[in-house]
Amino acid sequence: MKQEKNIIPEILHVAMVMDGNGRWANERALARLKGHAKGADRVRHIVRASLDMKVTHLTLFAFSTENWKRSESEVIGLMGLFKKFMKSEAKKLLINGVKVRFIGNRSRLDKSIIKLMDELEFLTKENDNLNLTIALNYGGRDEIVRATKKISEKVKLGLIDIDDINIEMFSNNLDTFELPDPDLVIRTSGELRTSNFLPWQCAYSEYVFEKSNWPDFNKDIYEEILIEFKTRERRFGAILK
Ligand code: IPE
Ligand code: IPE
Ligand code: MG
Repeated sequence: MKQEKNIIPEILHVAMVMDGNGRWANERALARLKGHAKGADRVRHIVRASLDMKVTHLTLFAFSTENWKRSESEVIGLMGLFKKFMKSEAKKLLINGVKVRFIGNRSRLDKSIIKLMDELEFLTKENDNLNLTIALNYGGRDEIVRATKKISEKVKLGLIDIDDINIEMFSNNLDTFELPDPDLVIRTSGELRTSNFLPWQCAYSEYVFEKSNWPDFNKDIYEEILIEFKTRERRFGAILK
C-alpha cells in the first residue's frame, strides 16, 4: 500500500522500548522465550498500525548493549528470533513500502545476522512509506563513544579541525545520522527509565510510559497515546505564548 507521492507526510517519529516480554511469559508460567516470540508478533502488528496511522518513522529497541548480561540460552534464542523475523518479514516489508535500517554496534553480532541485516536494508532502500529503524545491540553510550572515535580519527588525519565539531556534525556521526530526532518515545511494561535508548536524540522528545507489557501492546493503545501526544505543547526551551 503506497501513500500518494504528491502528499508529503508530516514527519512523525515514534521510538519504542519494547519491554515486558519476560514478565508477560512469567505471568503465564511460560518460558521467557515464548514472551519474546509473542513480542516479535507484536512488532508486525505495530508496523502495520504505524503505516495505517501515517507515522513516518518508527524506531524499535530490540536488543541493548547491556542485554548480553542475560543467560546464554536467552541471548541465543533472541538472536534466532531476529533471524527468523528478518527472513519471514522481508517480502511483506518490501511490498508495504517499509524502509528498514539497523542501528547499533555490529562488532559483536554474528556474521549470519549481519548478512540478513544488510540484505534487508538493501532490499528496502527505495521505500518511503515508513522508515523502520531497528536498534540491535544498541546502547546510547556506546554510540556516542563510537561517534567520538570517528570524529577524533578525522581530526588526527587532519581532515577536520577541532573547531569544526558542533552539535550538527556530532549528530551526523551517530548511527542515526539519516533520521530526525524522535518526537515521542513509548516504553511499555511500566518501567520509568530510558535504559540507554537514544540519549542524545531524545533530548527534547516526549515520553509515554505505558503499563501494558509489550506482547499486550496494540493499535488501540497506540492510537490513544498518539492522540494524547498531539495535545502536548512542545517548547524546545523557547516561550511560545
Ligand atoms: C524486552 O523484554 C525484550 C528485550 C529486552 C530483548 P524483557 O525481556 O526485558 O522483559 P522483562 O522486562 O524481563 O519483562
Ligand atoms: C531495554 O529493556 C532494552 C530493550 C527493550 C531491548 P531492558 O529490560 O533491557 O531494560 P532494564 O534492564 O529493565 O533497564
Ligand atoms: Mg525488560
